[in-house]
Amino acid sequence: MPEKQDFSDKTILITGAGGFIGSALCFYFQENFPKAKIIAIDCFRNNEYFSNGNLKALGHFKNLLGFKGLLLSGNINDKTLLKKLENEYKFDYIFHQAAISDTTVKEQACMLQINVNAYEDLLKIAIKHKANIVYASSAAVYGDASSPQSLGSEAPQNIYGFSKLMMDNISYEYLKNDLDISIVGLRYFNVYGKGEFYKGKTASTVLQFAHQILAKKAPKLFENSDKIFRDFVYIKDVVKANILGANPKKSGVYNIGTAVARSFQDIADILQAKLGTTYNCEYIPNPYLGQYQFFTQADIVQSEQNLGFSPSFSLEDGISDYLEEIKRLFDKEMKK
Ligand SMILES: NC(=O)c1ccc[n+]([C@@H]2O[C@H](COP(=O)([O-])OP(=O)(O)OC[C@H]3O[C@@H](n4cnc5c(N)ncnc54)[C@H](O)[C@@H]3O)[C@@H](O)[C@H]2O)c1
Repeated sequence: MPEKQDFSDKTILITGAGGFIGSALCFYFQENFPKAKIIAIDCFRNNEYFSNGNLKALGHFKNLLGFKGLLLSGNINDKTLLKKLENEYKFDYIFHQAAISDTTVKEQACMLQINVNAYEDLLKIAIKHKANIVYASSAAVYGDASSPQSLGSEAPQNIYGFSKLMMDNISYEYLKNDLDISIVGLRYFNVYGKGEFYKGKTASTVLQFAHQILAKKAPKLFENSDKIFRDFVYIKDVVKANILGANPKKSGVYNIGTAVARSFQDIADILQAKLGTTYNCEYIPNPYLGQYQFFTQADIVQSEQNLGFSPSFSLEDGISDYLEEIKRLFDKEMKK
């Protein structure tokens, strides 16, 4: 982790705190800067579903078990909540993770309202409070652009990727002004690690394949998975990127990945080796053809130069670090 940054006595807003990455940030600050005041926001799951059958909001209280900061349950589209944030606090930093994170959602208006509109509202609060802001963008902005994905080659294939690109455009627009704050957008590639379990079907394949194997079943992969490559980045590296993004050398939008492309078959093979199994994988047709990324690999040269970011975890290292938690979840949550 970066050493020189001190968040003690700072007031920090974390949106999407009931989710995977937001909760990891809450615990990072709680453990490393116990004097920091953390305000955590999420709207949490509420038995409402999109037309794809997935939950509208994925936040889950269990992601925050042990959290000692201030929790506000609310919708970042709610103007009353936004006013409360603006008037009742004075933030030093904002880490904005709340979003519809499901790349297969089809409802365009809802996606844009939550992901794009709320971002600009939070950005205005950041400017007013003089709070540096770091927000979650996504590698989905690149769609089927060729690898390694670099800034400038955006070609989103779905409304999710488009929404994240529009957030980045808002940042560029605001950065044309002389601001007192830094704005950093982080285009995460495929994140995996502790805290993703409650994302259900949208959790990483690392977790899904591992739980299939632990259930004594063959891992279920899309056909040609040895030829589908992604840049899989571990949650601890994503937290590190957020910390570095809070005080960057230069505001802007940055890729966050390992700069290494690995196949879905690699994941199944690594897991089988670590779990001591030799199942023949099951291959199923890919239902997302036409809006699916077949090769992602982050170009992280600018992230290294301007944030000082370099990943610490290879896919093998990340899976090793994650394995105990995967087994715990299988015993405590899957066997119910
Ligand atoms: N996990 C990945 O691989 C990945 C990759 C690229 C980008 N991202 C982005 O990173 C961020 C965090 O992703 P995650 O994986 O933790 O997803 P997540 O779904 O676990 O977390 C997002 C959180 O936002 C909350 N939320 C949604 N709509 C809200 C609203 N209107 N008001 C308040 N809260 C709301 C959800 O309840 C959820 O807890 C998201 O912006 C996502 O788009 C994630």
